[in-house]
Amino acid sequence: MKTITFFFGTMLIACIPFTANAQFMMFGGGNPARQDSLRKIAAADYADMLAKVGVSQPREGRQPNSQDESKHPNYDELIANPYPFYPDPLVTESGKKVTSAKMWNKVRRPEIVRLFEDNVYGRIPANVPGVKWEVTNEEKKEFAGKQVVVRYLKGVVDNSSYPAITVEIQANVVYPEGKQNLPVIIEFGFGGGDPTRSFSRAGSVSWQQMVIERGWAAATINPSSIQADAGSGLTNGIIGLCNKGEHRQPTDWGSLRAWGWGLSRLIDYFETDKTFDATKCAIEGVSRYGKASLVAMAFEPRIAAGFIASSGKAGAAGWRRDCGESIGNIVSNEEYHWVCGNLIKYGADPLTENDIPVDQHELIALCAPRACFISTGSWSGDKWQDVVGSFISASKASPVYELLGYKGVGTDLFPGMDNGLMDGRLTYRQHHGGHEAGPNWPFFLDFFEREVVGR
Ligand code: GCU
Repeated sequence: MKTITFFFGTMLIACIPFTANAQFMMFGGGNPARQDSLRKIAAADYADMLAKVGVSQPREGRQPNSQDESKHPNYDELIANPYPFYPDPLVTESGKKVTSAKMWNKVRRPEIVRLFEDNVYGRIPANVPGVKWEVTNEEKKEFAGKQVVVRYLKGVVDNSSYPAITVEIQANVVYPEGKQNLPVIIEFGFGGGDPTRSFSRAGSVSWQQMVIERGWAAATINPSSIQADAGSGLTNGIIGLCNKGEHRQPTDWGSLRAWGWGLSRLIDYFETDKTFDATKCAIEGVSRYGKASLVAMAFEPRIAAGFIASSGKAGAAGWRRDCGESIGNIVSNEEYHWVCGNLIKYGADPLTENDIPVDQHELIALCAPRACFISTGSWSGDKWQDVVGSFISASKASPVYELLGYKGVGTDLFPGMDNGLMDGRLTYRQHHGGHEAGPNWPFFLDFFEREVVGR
């Protein structure tokens, strides 16, 4: 067993004992020769995709640490909106105004789904195989003042179409013993460890503790056990299995979509056990997992609520904004695996962000009318992820919530720190912490209680 500490940005996400060790191996296991070979695999995969989309060199992403100041990110709000006109979620491709819930669901929503699939996140292939869940271990203990059960799960993907690739989804769930129909809060995190010893904090207590105190279930799913968080893994994992070990096509799914697919399979599992109420599931994630949470919720209508924390570009922040990271960062060889190959075109001249036929407020709109909480940290701690841009997207998604009969964030004026816009089905709150979910956990749980548990 190895214990690994992962740092994403300034935040300590987790420090967890691994059994399967997939993530560690994916990054070369600390072995320089292996790391070098993985870099080469990623470079070949990236070159293959650039050739497929006809791009020789995407624009460089922002480089906060560069000696060359012209490469630094922009943080000046006065010049952060070079493309101030966003696609209207309530106008169809043929130019008709969307005036009813029926028209949204039948015409406009499917249009937006297809635009995101073809230009940003990719499509889930038709041949994606099934998953069989197994309980690998179960323990009873006391936690958060309650008797709880900790259940460890393994979702084995049917690989009979290509036995060279094995995919086993790691997840776990902790819940108060002897109860039924429990709402479940799920985190994209590291599924191998004991959730009662989680280091993922919400103030002085772990988020799992807060969830158990409220009498609900807390689950974790390990994204890297579904699909690696690296370009070198694209011919492996669930994406590689569906492609029988070959490179992706430009509209094939990336890791964000694959992680969302894995989450849907976990919800399938919760549907089979009366302990859980699968109609009351929430997903939470921070940073790249904040992006994954929003993508999952947008495409999976069974997810009742989302806590989308510090998700930045490819998450809640608009492509049309120039603040913090840029499309060049996302389509670089370090991050392109999160998205589909076609997105690279918009990060390469002559196309710009303004040519993307959708923007991220429309991803939030796909969640409507379900309970969606857009969270950011303080300006100083979270500006790379575009704090204001995330709010703007929530504001621009609000008309869709309103069309469906619910309140959105209710304003287009940035509310400032610790002043949440909390009374709608779509909420925004900037907390005083850094690049993390931490201080917003109690606010999200209150929101979930009001909009999902008590509805
Ligand atoms: C980088 C990247 C972000 C991402 C973050 C993370 O900073 O630019 O888009 O959210 O990594 O997930 O750690």
